[in-house]
Amino acid sequence: MAVVLAAGLGTRMKSRLPKVLHPLCGRRMIDYVLETAVNATGARPLVVYSPATAAVRDAVADTADTALQDEPRGTGDALRAALASLPADVDEVLVLSGDVPLVRAELLTALLEARTLDHAALSLVAVDAIDPTGLGRVVRNEGGTVERIVEDRDATDEERQITEINAGLYALDAAWLRRRIGDLQSSPGTGEVYLTDLVALAREDGRIVAALDVEDDGRLTGINDRAQLARAEWDLRVETNDRWMRAGVTMMDPSTVYLDHDVELAEDVVLEPNVILRGATRVGERTRIAAGSQISDSQIGSDCVVWASVIERSVVEDHATVGPFSHLRPGAHVGPRSEIGNYAEIKNSHLGEHVRQHHMSYLGDAEVGRDTNVGAGTITANYDGVRKHRTTIGERVFLGVDTMLRAPVTLGDDARTGAGAVVTRDVPAGRLAVGVPARLRPPRPVGPADPVGPMGPGEPVEPSPGTPPPTDGG
Ligand code: UD1
Ligand code: CA
Repeated sequence: MAVVLAAGLGTRMKSRLPKVLHPLCGRRMIDYVLETAVNATGARPLVVYSPATAAVRDAVADTADTALQDEPRGTGDALRAALASLPADVDEVLVLSGDVPLVRAELLTALLEARTLDHAALSLVAVDAIDPTGLGRVVRNEGGTVERIVEDRDATDEERQITEINAGLYALDAAWLRRRIGDLQSSPGTGEVYLTDLVALAREDGRIVAALDVEDDGRLTGINDRAQLARAEWDLRVETNDRWMRAGVTMMDPSTVYLDHDVELAEDVVLEPNVILRGATRVGERTRIAAGSQISDSQIGSDCVVWASVIERSVVEDHATVGPFSHLRPGAHVGPRSEIGNYAEIKNSHLGEHVRQHHMSYLGDAEVGRDTNVGAGTITANYDGVRKHRTTIGERVFLGVDTMLRAPVTLGDDARTGAGAVVTRDVPAGRLAVGVPARLRPPRPVGPADPVGPMGPGEPVEPSPGTPPPTDGG
């Protein structure tokens, strides 16, 4: 069973957010540790938190059990708090640090095996660190046996020369641990109770301490400050991008592509420079995400082009184009083969197949039928200052430039509006509405009516009952 220590204050982060909740490639640091712990042990982990990191308890509620350390007195005291909540039949404890997120499950398996093989009281991971600054040093005797761990802040100058560091990952004999944990003393220097002093206690008892020696690949030295957080993010990003490129994704410049942990990409996706894909974003085959796009929690279909645009919690279906400079806000659904162009904004709206919205316009809370053309400057005035109202636009509708649609309002199939029309009443199918406020032109005699002609006398339209007049396009 795995115990994850996450009760420390993480003061070096200089943050109100507990350290282990800081995101790493779009996912909380501790979630990496929990996933790896489950992979290595097959059991639900136990997370130690403190009143100052109570947000951790809430954050892990679905994936782990929790134990409270009433005050963060050090890692040894944190493990003591965990032991109190550990079922009595647990005979081996894997201890992980919430701030060493990039450890791999295979290493933990090896750590567990190393302990069993040597009948050791504990096994630990020792890294030959490129930069050991700030970390606990592994002190060995002449024979090479691990004798104790000395913390950087308590080390002598000579001990500080040691480059072999303690990664803060341990497998422990639970029966021995239960007997001896009460014997940990607080450090005279800092007043903290160090888990690492268990090494010396084991040696006192004549028990073996097994050290698993690993190279420094940058994944095991832990995250204590934001510079280390950025370095870990960099390493993870290089690895993630390599994985997607091997899976068939083209990246023109992988050093400027930012993919969150949960992003999924299909074969022959092309990512141009300066692309950020966040959250649970998925991109379909052969789609090109062109330079300068940011997409979060959205689904983009196959054979699409997204160019220099921002897309949030939206769906774009196959063969659609978006951008340059479009903004799809939450709830935008763009139908197949649709074209969303320059400075177009869409929010909470469903667009059918092959809708064209090319220039400087806003659709909010709208339903738009297939093959409809949204003229430049078209705005749905969906917000009356109190409530949002819906706009329903049929199929093959032609909206003239600068049409204002004052919601709630419905335009039937094949309806048209003149340039600058302010539509405050429903427009029946096939009819043309022009002017301010828009009036219906008489039904077309023979040949096309002039969609941008001056406002004629027309015929009055029936007022739609009830709602106060919307005032802006929010
Ligand atoms: C610790 C080790 C050090 C090792 C390093 C590796 C000790 C005394 N030192 O140092 O030998 O090289 O990790 O990264 O263990 N925590 C609690 N309760 C507390 C204090 C800490 O749960 O009272 C948690 C923290 O949230 C963190 C982990 O334990 O997840 C490690 O604590 P941290 O203060 O970062 O220890 P280091 O100084 O890095
Ligand atoms: Ca640490």
